[in-house]
Amino acid sequence: MAEPRDTTEPCAPLSVQPLRWDEASGCLQMIDQRVLPARVVLLSCDSAASVADAIRSMVVRGAPSIGCAAAYGIAVEARRLQQVDRAGFAAGMSAAFELLAQSRPTAVNLFWALQRMQEVLASTQSQSPAVIAGLLLRQSHEILAANMRANRALGALGAALLPHTAQVLTHCNAGALATAGYGTALGVIRAAVAEGKRISVLADETRPLLQGARLTLWELQRDHIPVTLITDSMAGHMMQQGSVDAVIVGADRIAANGDFANKIGTYMVAVLAHRHGIPFYVAAPLSTIDRQLASGAAIPIEERDAAEVCGFGELRWAPADVAVRNPAFDVTPAELVTALITENGVVRSPDGAGIAALFAPQR
Ligand code: MRU
Repeated sequence: MAEPRDTTEPCAPLSVQPLRWDEASGCLQMIDQRVLPARVVLLSCDSAASVADAIRSMVVRGAPSIGCAAAYGIAVEARRLQQVDRAGFAAGMSAAFELLAQSRPTAVNLFWALQRMQEVLASTQSQSPAVIAGLLLRQSHEILAANMRANRALGALGAALLPHTAQVLTHCNAGALATAGYGTALGVIRAAVAEGKRISVLADETRPLLQGARLTLWELQRDHIPVTLITDSMAGHMMQQGSVDAVIVGADRIAANGDFANKIGTYMVAVLAHRHGIPFYVAAPLSTIDRQLASGAAIPIEERDAAEVCGFGELRWAPADVAVRNPAFDVTPAELVTALITENGVVRSPDGAGIAALFAPQR
């Protein structure tokens, strides 16, 4: 990765766009989400290895955003290698795919995007590396633009599910920062607010990396959408008090039967919503659906470093050498989902048939 550039004041062009291609430098630029909201720092990536690092260390995070970054990781590597001979180019590209595929395991958008890039590579074998590099870059732009279109479309469909006045609880950050822009769960909220609905948000802080407290709050404040921070353990109390009208979350991978993985703690929120009769919505683009997996039991769950649970930043609060578990995601069974909101439609009580219908050609 190139030297970080602190753009705390001002950063308007990238404010709700976590990543973008910079043609002048031939680099992928991204907002470093590890240091938000204290600082708005841009990082530039000029190789697949630096993009894989950025995904692993969560400079860029959120399933669709990871997918877009991986696509650009391939494009940037192709550009870097475009002057080498065909054999060297092919070997370098194959190593780049492998590296990016190993960066994070749960968000299926990563593998979905790499598959799209692989298809371009496979269909352009007879071209020169420079031409292939151009076509891969074009495909990355298309993946980014398609995610933005999907978010707008699912946002509008999801907004119709919310009452005119509502307090919505969300977990983690499924906003502009987690996508190409606009967001999935937060896209639904943005669309509802744009329609004139009076929506306020309760944001779980989202231990251990605080995506809710740091990122969701930052984004919604910038859009002047009323938002209140709570700790994860307050969600049940808020529901019991009648302070939650609906829950909307994003997803990292949705199995063919509607079970889905999302940020650790989501399952707990879904169980609580069910207990209190509160609608529980999942908002995600079709690229988050993994039709190869029969159920959520087969979703690979990333286990991250113990240090994330023992403290934050420089601050350590657990004694040294304690046993720690740090699964980054959990799986919520489909039976707890009131509706799945996608760009192709809303599936109520999602199951295999409802999800398969989203992919039917006549839609
Ligand atoms: O570990 P993260 O921050 O990448 O986890 C992100 C989430 O769990 C999001 O809710 C999910 O990716 C959906 S983003 C639209």
